Amino acid sequence: MTRRLYLSVPHMGESEARYVQEAFSSNWLSTVGPNLDAFEAEFSRRLGLPSVALASGTAALHLGLRLLGVGPGDEVLCPTLTFVASVNPVTYLGAEATFLDVSRDTWNLDPGILEEVLSARAREGRLPKCVVVVDLYGQSADLDPILASCDRHGVPVLEDAAEALGASYKGHPAGSRCPVSAFSFNGNKIITTTGGGMLACRDPSWTARARFWSQQARDPGVAYHHTQLGYNYRLSNVLAGIGRGQLEVLENRVARRRAVCERYREALADLEGLSLMPEAPYGLHTRWLTVFTVDAARLGVDRDALLAALEAENIEARPVWKPMNIQPLYAHRPSYGGAVGEDLYHRGLCLPSSSSLSEGDVGRVVATLRGAVERAARARRRD
Ligand SMILES: Cc1ncc(COP(=O)(O)O)c(C=O)c1O
Repeated sequence: MTRRLYLSVPHMGESEARYVQEAFSSNWLSTVGPNLDAFEAEFSRRLGLPSVALASGTAALHLGLRLLGVGPGDEVLCPTLTFVASVNPVTYLGAEATFLDVSRDTWNLDPGILEEVLSARAREGRLPKCVVVVDLYGQSADLDPILASCDRHGVPVLEDAAEALGASYKGHPAGSRCPVSAFSFNGNKIITTTGGGMLACRDPSWTARARFWSQQARDPGVAYHHTQLGYNYRLSNVLAGIGRGQLEVLENRVARRRAVCERYREALADLEGLSLMPEAPYGLHTRWLTVFTVDAARLGVDRDALLAALEAENIEARPVWKPMNIQPLYAHRPSYGGAVGEDLYHRGLCLPSSSSLSEGDVGRVVATLRGAVERAARARRRD
């Protein structure tokens, strides 16, 4: 069997092992140490905001929502089309998510729907506690109109930039425009600490509070004295060493993922019925994942047949995230629109996108897709 091609795999640089080794040789193996300090400092420098390194992106979202005061009974507006981890922390806090459809131009939260819902809520006198905006697949949401609506109504925004480290919006790094932003270093992300996350806040006192909560909220002093609820959410100094090394190669990884996407685009350009996820004019899309939509009537073969053809060649591909409004876990919650997210879910195809893919690997995916389309065309001619 040919080597399996995965959707998105870790891609280490030259320094990660050295930083990890330093953690071992200095015995800084737990949740304090020079790698943590350096990782946070470099991340903060790049983003222009103070940040705190955590055990996961989900933990960052959880602490970020708590910083925004989200609690039992609150309503939080979220986009329909995202990974479930964008929404679960709302539920952890006893709050309730309401879902808003995404825009076809960006695949991210539709600013028009958001404005309608916020205006309606304002008239009813029950504004949501906050809005979670997600930067999907490496592309920032259209933040200007989103922040304008939210500012007008006094509703804060949490940016889930888990999939968009390295992206930009109108010259600003993704995750730098909102009061709180969350990033993920899960193994499938553009850079990884094997598992980990980062929370960035515009207000440094908020980052300090999140750091305190992430270490069991132990009050200063030698006694184990607690006045607030905490969590065991801090990243270890060992894993921060991996993060340090990965930040050194971030630009390279973005360039490489974009090059992989470009190669797919060129090699599949003549196939009518395959459309690449749009890159909005306002910023840089990292192409964390290369995602196409399939128009089966024009292509002659549907998305699921392409998934099956790729799997038969030992190539991992995936549908687009299943939207939250049709998840059994969240289908009971109100949603506004939803047709765009559902359409993208039914027709979206995520292709292997790792920065370590070779030209030959990308060629293998292309050949498999073209083969499936050609086989379907031959079968139609025979009928
Ligand atoms: C949009 C989005 N939000 C949140 C997360 C959660 O991040 P983590 O896996 O680090 O908890 C992920 C990825 O896993 C994600 O894709």
